[in-house]
Amino acid sequence: MPFHLPEPWRVKVVEPIRLPTPETREQRLAAAGFNLFDVPAEAIFIDLLTDSGTAAMSDNQWAGLMLGDESYAGARSYYRFEEAVHEVFGFPHLIPVHQGRVAENLLFSTLVDAGSIVPNNNHFDTTRANIEIHGARALDLVIDEGRDPDSDHPFKGNIDLDKARRLFETTPRERIPLAMLTLTNNSGGGQPVSLANVRAYAELCHEFGIPFYIDACRFAENAYFIQQREEGQAARSVAEIAREVFDLADGCTMSAKKDGLANMGGFVASRNRELIETLTQRLILIEGFPTYGGLAGRDLEAVARGLREVLDPEYLRFRVGQLEAFGRRIHELGVPIIRPVGGHAVYVDARRFLPHIPPAEFPAQALVVALYREGAVRGVEIGSVMFGRTDPETGEKSYADLELVRLAVPRRVYTNTHLAYVVEVLEQIRDRRDRLKGLRMVHEAPVLRHFTARFEELA
Ligand code: F0G
Repeated sequence: MPFHLPEPWRVKVVEPIRLPTPETREQRLAAAGFNLFDVPAEAIFIDLLTDSGTAAMSDNQWAGLMLGDESYAGARSYYRFEEAVHEVFGFPHLIPVHQGRVAENLLFSTLVDAGSIVPNNNHFDTTRANIEIHGARALDLVIDEGRDPDSDHPFKGNIDLDKARRLFETTPRERIPLAMLTLTNNSGGGQPVSLANVRAYAELCHEFGIPFYIDACRFAENAYFIQQREEGQAARSVAEIAREVFDLADGCTMSAKKDGLANMGGFVASRNRELIETLTQRLILIEGFPTYGGLAGRDLEAVARGLREVLDPEYLRFRVGQLEAFGRRIHELGVPIIRPVGGHAVYVDARRFLPHIPPAEFPAQALVVALYREGAVRGVEIGSVMFGRTDPETGEKSYADLELVRLAVPRRVYTNTHLAYVVEVLEQIRDRRDRLKGLRMVHEAPVLRHFTARFEELA
């Protein structure tokens, strides 16, 4: 059986998608400078750019929109949102924001300054940018297995506790204003972090008096992996496991566009009331009054419901099972992927798939271009376009550890048939991969360059 579980939902509303002609695809690629961020979504057939903000809401969430209370201050929807966050995450103080990076911006602009170091398993790009913009250092301390695409370690998102301890021992305490951990580890392949690792890291942080914050975007998928893979956890509910994870932390940043099953939303939550009060002052300046934080009342309603729905064991079993089967079929084609498959995406190892294209010619971006050219599928480069840079002073270029293409699967949007189509597209690319061409970057912005970079195809 190719997919072991059918979708645990049926379709009530449909949204047409169309496969553009090969000529249209060529035109779109050229007009976008071979950057898929610049191709209109209308010209995409299967959009695996991101699992963020792309979920299909449930009938329950849509019904909730009608109950959105749009009062400026103290809306009913805010209190329902607050109740859901308290129930699922347990933190006593919180502020809503319109998406995760605002949570990061508020937290880091308050806590971090030039010379600070913030460790994490792997920082996501917006997290890194929000730290580095203050002249601080975003340090990645994922375990060695997490950098090895072949390791079948069940928790490749774990942070290296020895490295973290060494950092804490050799750095003045005031230079580490907080320590982070990303669940699941998006930049490292969507890999989970074990409960044992969260426990040990929390203990270590607290031994050194360092506040411990979780980047919680995909907390439910992470908790599901703990339930499935970690000894002694099988009999516990995902909700219970998730709650224990957060009970170990001092706070979290959350993009509800992932495991909030919402199209917009997020929050910062903490045990530190003073800190949240300080962030609130900034929030009012950039997002809005603290009971809506840049969101409509109806958005708060959708997030409140989504945060509970995402913990449904049937949903999570299908979700993670769909990803697993998608990855297995790609692997069976002989296309190298990061294994085991993570919770929200399959990551194709483009360096190994396209050994004839060197990092300086962006092999993962070349594969992103091929996926669009072949089947109007949109994936995203997570390699040297995203993480490499050109030093503005010396002109020196740096490259990423891994050259990956992420095929992120939006939640509850695509059926197994859609994903089978993507597998076929990859099969066709595989058969003529020697002919794929590298790229030259002809435009780059100083921060988050992957969003706006432009390329030319090499002959
Ligand atoms: N942290 C992680 C681990 C993320 O994956 C993201 C977003 C953010 C923070 C920022 O949240 O987008 O709501 O501001 N990741 C998306 C992605 C964009 O495609 O992986 P945001």
